[in-house]
Amino acid sequence: MVLDFDAVIRGGTVVTSGGVARTDIGIRDGRIAALAVGLTAERVIDAGGLLVLPGGVDTHVHLDQPGTGPSEMSDDFDTGTASAAAGGTTTIVSFAWQPRGGSLKETVEDYHRRAAKARIDYSFHLTITDPTPKVLEEELPPLVESGCRSVKVFMTYDGVGLNDAQLIETLAASRKAGALVCVHAEHHGLIEYLSKRLVAAGLTAPKYHPWAKPALVEREAIGRIAAIAEMLDVPIQIFHVSCPETAAEVARFRAQGLKIWAETCPQYLAFTAEDLDRPGFEGAKFIFGPPARSASDTEGLWHYLRDGTLGIISSDHSPMNFDSPRGKKVAGEDASFDQVPNGIPGLAARLPIAFHEGVVKGRIDLETFVDLVATRPARLFGLAPRKGAIAIGADADLVLWDPDATQVLTLAGQHHGGDYTPYEGREVRGRVVSTYLRGEAVFANGRVIGPPGEGRFLARGPYPEIAPRGVFPIPFNPVDGTLVV
Ligand code: URP
Ligand code: ZN
Ligand code: ZN
Ligand code: ZN
Repeated sequence: MVLDFDAVIRGGTVVTSGGVARTDIGIRDGRIAALAVGLTAERVIDAGGLLVLPGGVDTHVHLDQPGTGPSEMSDDFDTGTASAAAGGTTTIVSFAWQPRGGSLKETVEDYHRRAAKARIDYSFHLTITDPTPKVLEEELPPLVESGCRSVKVFMTYDGVGLNDAQLIETLAASRKAGALVCVHAEHHGLIEYLSKRLVAAGLTAPKYHPWAKPALVEREAIGRIAAIAEMLDVPIQIFHVSCPETAAEVARFRAQGLKIWAETCPQYLAFTAEDLDRPGFEGAKFIFGPPARSASDTEGLWHYLRDGTLGIISSDHSPMNFDSPRGKKVAGEDASFDQVPNGIPGLAARLPIAFHEGVVKGRIDLETFVDLVATRPARLFGLAPRKGAIAIGADADLVLWDPDATQVLTLAGQHHGGDYTPYEGREVRGRVVSTYLRGEAVFANGRVIGPPGEGRFLARGPYPEIAPRGVFPIPFNPVDGTLVV
């Protein structure tokens, strides 16, 4: 074999979503140039005894989002992507978050500046909180064309959630512009109703957070957004499915031919509602929405991960300091659960938790693991074939993974910017040895070495998986929103 590689990863067991094989990897100009046994180069990276995985692709990551006072995010694109590299993730899709009353175009320009210090590659979802005609008709189409090919909408949260009319207008505009729509699906009115009554009854501890967000809150919202998506022929991705009851809804809609996809996150595989009942105010470290549910729900999610209904494990990394926004310093330990902002950090824990709970415990095989954390997210979000796979021509984004090493997850090991990890003290088998972005090490020997600014913006192409539908409940043209009568 000709010696024209910049580097060779030698002796590892390469895992792709299609199979597991012993092969060397030749890297040239930041891309995978050869897959064969016996490759040589001056720079040889020894992967003997290790697995070689495609770099993780995390398509649900919140970084540097605006907050008010203490609910400010504890990670920007520097610390957040450091954490990603440490956890074996080389691509993220983060959010360009439109403030109410703000311009979406200016928001995206602002996020391009914020992301200039990223250490790994990135793209943006367009979070629309204020879908004015100007935003939907003038600003959205060119932004989608520029490679931000997904929109994010919330069905709950004050100041962020959209009402039904706004959801319909936003999905219709996304259909025209060619964007996939990602949805936080929970019934806002019911959550408010339940929260108010719980608090009035003095049931304010973190453990009552799941009481305010029972599974039916999620199920109803998925049904509602699916109906809108069906009418308008818009592809949708349901974010953070928390339990089999709602995954079953997704499966049902898919079987009917809807273009509906869904993810779950490590926190729904690792925690239960009991974690919210930890002593003192510790339970607040586990407040995220939809909430953690029961052990049998956790087990049930694996069924839907195996059958592909849930095609992605993303982190939903939403880092905030425990000592302030979670109420400890701000409101005292008696802050009620509904005052605590939802979200936890988890970028670096994503692969370790998915591997330990999935592969080590025999729930999924290695190929499915890689599919869930890298290949499928890359495909669904228009990043393939460049990202998410070990294949000739793909970026040499690679993770050397020790499947036998055990590690105890700690805050320091997460390399993120906040003051806690909900995974503190948790022992898992499987560990990132080193992470490579386009052939260069960004994490090795326990240290993040990829410098800020090395990450590149990824303009995403149209979705090949999504073909237009032909049959509608009424004569309707989703492309221009006209009735064909
Ligand atoms: O609790 C959560 N999931 N917070 C992060 C923002 C979101 O809803 O995705
Ligand atoms: Zn409210
Ligand atoms: Zn959400
Ligand atoms: Zn989120």
